[in-house]
Amino acid sequence: MPNSWPSRYRTSVTFRHALAIVVCLAWTTPANSAQDQPGTEPYQRVCQACHGELGKGDIAPPLVPGRFDPDYVLAVVREGFGQMPPISTRELTDDEVRAIVSYLASLTPEKPPVASTETIR
Ligand code: HEC
Repeated sequence: MPNSWPSRYRTSVTFRHALAIVVCLAWTTPANSAQDQPGTEPYQRVCQACHGELGKGDIAPPLVPGRFDPDYVLAVVREGFGQMPPISTRELTDDEVRAIVSYLASLTPEKPPVASTETIR
């Protein structure tokens, strides 16, 4: 049956495209609560033990409120930062780190407090 393979292949490619579109829609839909954020689970799994619930800080400094650059956080996570140990890709993918950055941003109010580091330039 030489015809069965190509047609099955075509079906699976179409399916994957459909899946990709669904994933994109889910991604671009604005999240109304922190619980909708894809970074919630990886944050709770990896970061929360030190940085506390909702990024409020525990044995490590708070990460909220604050707007972090994803590349900066990626560097901190992979290389470590002072007392913070490096975390490998086995524990956390790059995408999960970026999701965590969005999660933390979602916990930060749009208007930062008056004296934020952004006003000190
Ligand atoms: C084992 C405890 C621990 C874990 C787990 C941990 N951190 Fe940290 N993190 C720290 C400590 C301690 C510091 C402060 C280091 C210092 O200032 O010397 C820190 C600092 C940071 C900073 C730097 C903040 C700044 O002032 O620039 C960022 C960003 C950060 N952590 C993000 C994360 C993220 C994201 C995760 C999860 C992927 C995570 N951390 C997991 C302990 C931890």
